[in-house]
Amino acid sequence: MALDLTYRPRRLRRTEALRTLVRETTVLPGDLIFPMFVTEGTGVREPIDTMPGQFRVSIDELVREGHDLLELGIPAVNLFGYSEQKNDLATEAHNPQGLIPRAVRALKQACPELCVQTDVALDPYTEHGHDGLVINGEIVNDETVEVLCRMAVTHAEAGADWVAPSDMMDGRVGAIREALDATGFERVGILAYSAKYASCFYGPFRGALKSAPKKGDKKTYQMDPANVREALKEIALDVAEGADVVMVKPALAYLDVIAAVRASCDVPVAAYNVSGEYCMIMAAAEKGWIDADRAMLETLLAIKRAGADMILTYFAKRAATLLRQKP
Ligand code: PBG
Repeated sequence: MALDLTYRPRRLRRTEALRTLVRETTVLPGDLIFPMFVTEGTGVREPIDTMPGQFRVSIDELVREGHDLLELGIPAVNLFGYSEQKNDLATEAHNPQGLIPRAVRALKQACPELCVQTDVALDPYTEHGHDGLVINGEIVNDETVEVLCRMAVTHAEAGADWVAPSDMMDGRVGAIREALDATGFERVGILAYSAKYASCFYGPFRGALKSAPKKGDKKTYQMDPANVREALKEIALDVAEGADVVMVKPALAYLDVIAAVRASCDVPVAAYNVSGEYCMIMAAAEKGWIDADRAMLETLLAIKRAGADMILTYFAKRAATLLRQKP
């Protein structure tokens, strides 16, 4: 069909009412998941040097935050533990009395409606800072998966709604699904970090947990930023193994991957707007070079437009607060 060259696209941009009617994508507080860092103690709210505006909080503060999140319409948190208990077998990762299980119990008791998700990976619990066990200098796969399964079951016992394996070991989604089912936790979901890239944008997060790898990098398990076909392969495997939701991480430099993943599978897709993406906006705003609120909303909109159904973001509270003020 011939294009009507007299057509005037600006006709639909003339007023805010018209723009609202034809808007294709919206971000809602209900799309957001707030990643939080939990630490020991009471009344603790420690600013994180590497992530301005973010805190490591003790369990009592976490519970207060839980109420605030629900108030803002944010349905979910994703918890990371700040642990001083580090050893080569990462035993603290599956201690039923450990920080994360205690945090989950307290949070679910106070805010049962909140979806509580937990990170499943070994890096905060090992001295070397890798996501898996290291044997003879190698990050071993199947031995790690066994520990991850114990960790996931421990979180499920504490009441987690979803476990979120972020380790990128092969076969862990299927193994965790089996371990959860075998212990009566069929209802607990798996949010799989399926396409997680070996990215420099995680730097500020590793500062927050003091979890930067002491030696080497994560390139033998996290993906090469150059690859997208490989992402689709990882997604297909995780879906086949029983992932309830698949994730692409980071988000902003990987919008093409989000779009390709959205088109390739029929499970919900999450995207992680990671620490480095957060810090770039915060730092530029601090210099007066960018409007943080507008940059934040435009970024979240772009991630949603690319195809994400839900977004993990440190901006969750700030964005929800602004979105609620909109008429
Ligand atoms: C580690 C983990 C990382 C993040 C989430 N889980 C860092 C890494 O893989 O080194 C990054 C999150 C962020 O940068 O915001 N299992």
